[in-house]
Amino acid sequence: MTVLPEIFDLTGRVALLTGASKGIGKAMARILAEAGATVIISSRKQDAVDEAAEEFRRAGLKAAGMSVHMGQPETFPDLIDKIMETHGRIDVLVNNAATNPVYGPILEQDAAAFDKIMSVNVKGPLEMAKLVHPHMAAAGGGSVINISSVGGIKPIPDLGLYSISKAALIQMTKLCAKEWGPDGIRVNAVCPGLIKTKFSRALWDNDRARDHWLANMPIKRVGDPRDLMGVALWLASDAGAFATGGVYTVDGGETI
Ligand SMILES: NC(=O)c1ccc[n+]([C@@H]2O[C@H](COP(=O)([O-])OP(=O)(O)OC[C@H]3O[C@@H](n4cnc5c(N)ncnc54)[C@H](OP(=O)(O)O)[C@@H]3O)[C@@H](O)[C@H]2O)c1
Repeated sequence: MTVLPEIFDLTGRVALLTGASKGIGKAMARILAEAGATVIISSRKQDAVDEAAEEFRRAGLKAAGMSVHMGQPETFPDLIDKIMETHGRIDVLVNNAATNPVYGPILEQDAAAFDKIMSVNVKGPLEMAKLVHPHMAAAGGGSVINISSVGGIKPIPDLGLYSISKAALIQMTKLCAKEWGPDGIRVNAVCPGLIKTKFSRALWDNDRARDHWLANMPIKRVGDPRDLMGVALWLASDAGAFATGGVYTVDGGETI
């Protein structure tokens, strides 16, 4: 009996990815689109998501760009309504967008930064997932993938509030997995390690910082956004049908 490629096939399914105009989000959008999904590429800037969606369509893939700011949950219902009107379903939500506006010891990270980080990295993903839930439940199920970080497992000094927010996202993942499993909705978290994107430039573009990270990693290289493609496809597709509440590191072994 042949099972490939059916268990990874996303033909006819619709996936919404936040923060997907570049970096890890764009790489995950690409693999889901190549597996047959219509991908809704989202980030704050409409021109950026239009450009990414156009690039995908030129490659023969199904993609649309729809902007949203993850710190503005009052705008989420419009986005979800628009997707439902245009595409009729949402099978996969990848909560990928995040922010980290501050760097330094926790004593220097103030309450305003706490509010901003928790708003974009935790409240936004939870509110988005709650809005997607009824549509997934009505269709018999779906998959929510929350992009956390190794910082959510093992706090990263100088990225304290960010680490706290990513730990909260892991707990949100487990809570929703427990409550929504009976609705057929799987919820999992992925924890990237150091991946070469704009977001993490300060950590890989500086010899001392990069060497510090690599010293803890059995795989002696900085990760690439493509390294997240496999886990995203697995969790989004029927191949991951029995996986829920999981926390999966893709970090070159940094958290061992
Ligand atoms: N790179 C790493 O080493 C690393 C490690 C662990 C975890 N992560 C996690 O991986 C995820 C993606 O990071 P990345 O490294 O791929 O970052 P990136 O390359 O800088 O891309 C970030 C994406 O998010 C969008 N974005 C930023 N703020 C947003 C907001 N408030 N609302 C909506 N979209 C927003 C950006 O587009 P716009 O500017 O148009 O909004 C862009 O599409 C994040 O959750 C991050 O915490 C990354």
